[in-house]
Amino acid sequence: MGIQKKFSGKTAFVTGGSSGIGRALCLALAKNGAAVIVADKNSSGAGQVASEIIKGGGTAAAIKTDVTDPVSFRKALKASLKKFDRIDFLFNNAGIGYSSDFRDCTSRDMDMVLNVNFRGAVNGIMEIYPVMIAQGGGHIINIASMAGIIPFSINVAYTASKFALAGLTLSLMAEARDLGINMTLVCPGVIKTAFYDSIIVKKVDKKKYVSGLPSRMMGPERAAEIILRGVAGNKKMIVFPFHARILFMINKILPSLIYLLNKTLIKKFRKMSSI
Ligand code: NAI
Repeated sequence: MGIQKKFSGKTAFVTGGSSGIGRALCLALAKNGAAVIVADKNSSGAGQVASEIIKGGGTAAAIKTDVTDPVSFRKALKASLKKFDRIDFLFNNAGIGYSSDFRDCTSRDMDMVLNVNFRGAVNGIMEIYPVMIAQGGGHIINIASMAGIIPFSINVAYTASKFALAGLTLSLMAEARDLGINMTLVCPGVIKTAFYDSIIVKKVDKKKYVSGLPSRMMGPERAAEIILRGVAGNKKMIVFPFHARILFMINKILPSLIYLLNKTLIKKFRKMSSI
């Protein structure tokens, strides 16, 4: 199905919609005729994205939402349903980055990462699932990461949160489809966004760490285009860009190579470490 046909006249709720991939998704959805709810804990950022859409002739609303708080999520969805009657698409996109030697990862850090990246999506799904069943269908899109399908050292908490999200998505998929709800798991590789400005990096200089990441990073607009094309085609799983697909294949065929890569990565990280 064409992108325009899939989204035109529909309503989409996008968490983490004020920045990066989420912002690009909001703008692209609006361009394709969807009414967009820009949900983010950053209310001024969400407001700016909604204003940009409205100025461009689209339909949007900004709703302050902290995905880690089920009450905040419930209120945001309720307000959206009041305004737009139904929600056809839920993009669980809000997320945070976290890198450390696991020795420096506290239980509190682990909770924080799991709460946003996994529990945040669960909160949304728990609320929207019965609503979508009652309205006769819908589509839930979970933005995990290549770190949701490939193990990565230095990123144990982040990887665990994204594997949990991938597991939830892939296991719920068949169950949900039977009730008229489509699900898509999105696993991007490195995308150029503010994610790497706000990522928490413990005991290593953030600039130095980030500068070691793949340099030819894809922009969020292209990422949003790929995601929406995949969703329009009812894809179960979207893995991109090329480096993510290659690593995914290697992990399937030769997981020991990924293990070696992870050994190299943590060795390099420990060398950069200030302890
Ligand atoms: P970003 O940092 O540009 O945007 C993340 C958004 O989530 C921000 O607007 C932030 O305010 C919002 N957010 C954070 N915590 C929140 C909370 N508790 N409640 C509501 N909103 C919250 O990052 P980016 O790159 O756009 O990331 C979007 C998603 O894509 C994340 O889930 C991230 O893990 C995932 N991803 C990003 C990759 C990248 O290389 N940028 C790679 C793979 C996955």
